Amino acid sequence: MRILSFQIRNGLGQFGMGHRNFTHSFDAFGKLSSWKFPGNGSAFFSTKFIQSDFYKASVSANDIEPWLMFESVTPPFDEIQKLHALIRGIDNMNVNIAKLNSDGGATFVALNDFWKIYEIDPYSLSTTRSLTANVPQGGKTGSVTFLNFLSSAHPLPEYGTGNHITFLSSVSLIPGIKSKITTVRIRTADKREEIAHWEVDRVPYMHSFSVTQNYVIFFASPFYVNVMKMIRYAEPFNCLDWNKNEVTTVYVVEIKTGKVYTMKTENMFTMHHINAFESGKREITVDVSSYPSPQFVKDLQMKILLDPIERNNFDAHALLKRYHIDIDRKEVTAVSFPVSKTVPFANKLDMPTINENYRYQNYCYIYGVVLKSDDTNLSHISLVKKDICNASGDKSWFIKHHYPVEAWFVGAPSAKEEDDGYLLVPILDGKNKTSYLSIIDTKTMKTVNRAELPTIVPFNLHGRFFEDVV
Ligand SMILES: [Fe+2]
Repeated sequence: MRILSFQIRNGLGQFGMGHRNFTHSFDAFGKLSSWKFPGNGSAFFSTKFIQSDFYKASVSANDIEPWLMFESVTPPFDEIQKLHALIRGIDNMNVNIAKLNSDGGATFVALNDFWKIYEIDPYSLSTTRSLTANVPQGGKTGSVTFLNFLSSAHPLPEYGTGNHITFLSSVSLIPGIKSKITTVRIRTADKREEIAHWEVDRVPYMHSFSVTQNYVIFFASPFYVNVMKMIRYAEPFNCLDWNKNEVTTVYVVEIKTGKVYTMKTENMFTMHHINAFESGKREITVDVSSYPSPQFVKDLQMKILLDPIERNNFDAHALLKRYHIDIDRKEVTAVSFPVSKTVPFANKLDMPTINENYRYQNYCYIYGVVLKSDDTNLSHISLVKKDICNASGDKSWFIKHHYPVEAWFVGAPSAKEEDDGYLLVPILDGKNKTSYLSIIDTKTMKTVNRAELPTIVPFNLHGRFFEDVV
């Protein structure tokens, strides 16, 4: 069969094993799903668990084996198991998919917010190998000085090249030696090089960042790794300290020179940068889905999600924010977008997607997911098209008891305008207890086609669409 294009998605496949369950939804075993499009109006679905060491050992034991995870398990690990988990580190790459350059063509990888990745076969969804690239400067991840494990599940393409950009956070284990953040160019999955590095007193948790033609922009919210807690509890999320009275540090890295500019902005937290572009000679505009704190991530614990009262009580709303950065003045100015009358909840989107042809450019449309869009039920989930050039252009999609996840924008073959295209969105039909892939016209936000499945696709986090793959 000749495959013209396909979408691969990564996400939360299974929430327990044997008698033990994960306490936080983000720890579910990673499972891949793909929709292949041969170009004749049909779609073919496949799904497979990522065969990580963690998953394979857990299946074999019919129990969740001790590896490091976002939160913990119930019943809990004993002290010996916690030590094992700390030594083994994180192995569950259940967040995103990326296509990286390789010497022989392309490498498809499954990622989480960590330096380690798993290589996958995009056709069979088999797990090919685990990969822990040498850190730039010739270092190793298992250094006695630094814990080199935090990175991003959202590498971004470097403008005008086949490379990607990511970062590596190195947490110092030796008092008196500072931690550091390195901006990294991914030439191939195995070959990384340093663009810049700088020292920090504390390492912030960062899930994503922005790239423009000439700059990489990081928002380091005051949400810092606490090394002592990490060693004591071996639960990364509970080992991060949120400082609600501290400002956010913004790092702007000039790609060509490696020069790093440091500035400050308001206290905020973001999981997802949306897009960034250079709006003046030394000025940058960055759009993000922001939150007043990381509390909503904590609230995605299983005990809260499974309780209809508790889950409806937490604040699940992001706020779309634009930050203007003046590099020479070292000023960062935050602005909000007008709220539209037609879709008053459109600015509350997260899990953003854009027309990737407009990355690095001034653009108009952001597509995203709004949980609790009726302000009452967490499971009242709308998809929105946010028109940041004109709020009256906001549109939304909603079907009762249908639960969409992150969409991916695919341009129409003869697209002339930014919003000439379609959203590809896996949706769970709660009434029929089956999933389908929805194809939504982004001009109108109306469903134009559906690929029905006889089964449920577990909750996806992120995915990517790959064109012209034969
Ligand atoms: Fe993400």
